[in-house]
Amino acid sequence: MYQVELGTNGQVVTLIADDGTRTRFHAIWLRDNAWDDETRSPSNGQRLIALRDIPANLVIESASVSGTELHLTFQPESKSVVYDINWLLAHRYDREQPVAAGWTGQGISTWDSSLMSAVPEADFNAATTNPDVLANWLSKIRTYGFAKMTGGPATPEALLKVAGLFGYVRETNYGKYFEVRTEVNPTNLAYTGLGLQAHTDNPYRDPVPTLQILYCLENSATGGENMVVDGFAAALRLKAENPLWFDVLSRHCARFEYAGESGVCLRSRRPMIELAADGELIGVRFNNRSTAAITDVPFDEMGDYYAAYRRLGEIIDDPAMEVTFKLSPGECFIVDNTRVLHARKGYSGAGSRWLQGCYADKDGLLSTLAALEAGKQEAAE
Ligand code: FE2
Repeated sequence: MYQVELGTNGQVVTLIADDGTRTRFHAIWLRDNAWDDETRSPSNGQRLIALRDIPANLVIESASVSGTELHLTFQPESKSVVYDINWLLAHRYDREQPVAAGWTGQGISTWDSSLMSAVPEADFNAATTNPDVLANWLSKIRTYGFAKMTGGPATPEALLKVAGLFGYVRETNYGKYFEVRTEVNPTNLAYTGLGLQAHTDNPYRDPVPTLQILYCLENSATGGENMVVDGFAAALRLKAENPLWFDVLSRHCARFEYAGESGVCLRSRRPMIELAADGELIGVRFNNRSTAAITDVPFDEMGDYYAAYRRLGEIIDDPAMEVTFKLSPGECFIVDNTRVLHARKGYSGAGSRWLQGCYADKDGLLSTLAALEAGKQEAAE
């Protein structure tokens, strides 16, 4: 049971639960979020009016509760609207706001090398045929920003099938997908392939590709493991060690550039640690190879900026942060490229290493996941 109070000259409605919890809503917010057929399309839920269609001198004339329904009458429109109180409470904004920058969204779990014993993964055939398996795999990517897939075909372009499970490939100047192929020198067994520092891909694009898939077709060399690092965990560790360094990397833009082929000159200006307007940690960009001259940090802060950049790199290089695994043919991994860094370890000995990579985007993945979850909930009701 709920009670309702109307106050501030018809500008504020307060819902009061049995336990005394009070939740306030503004008249203009309620009117804008009405779900009647004149305000929202009954077929697709899209809003049919603009804010200009709502009178600026809007007031709530009357408010009453019946069961889980809230009944309001707005003037000067003389418009009556019924609200589902459960919907209102699920969308409440009268709550404590986070005060410190660097918080992560609901459902995000940060991790370090201890995730190695529980690498999120799914079987290709199971994910292809069973929507529950697919939903579970996608939800792990949402939570951890990374997952493996095993048991796929060791055939070229199989990675496109993985992307097709949840969304669409993002085509770039590297093509729909690209080859990561290395022949290890068989005449010199001491030869060691260079490892790469963990990085996010293509920070010079804006928007950056938000997902990357790397799919293994051959991997017979010694070494050549893949490793991933949670950029959110690294950024939060930097914050815990030195809040000023976290701050300087989040308040100033770095610059990234790639102009390595004719006709291509990609440039972006974005912070290495990206926060939303309210301090939510939403992105990490880190790539030593494509960081351009950084020119947007004030002279007086450049020293701190470089100290912070160096320390973030050391944290990323710390084995305690990394999850390492070796892919077999037919296996792949996917990373949230706005969060999780990836790298290749050095390799040696004879053999070959052939991976195919592609980009895709998180909006499609999260949409597919939300639709699968909504379908599951509906089936359970
Ligand atoms: Fe990469």
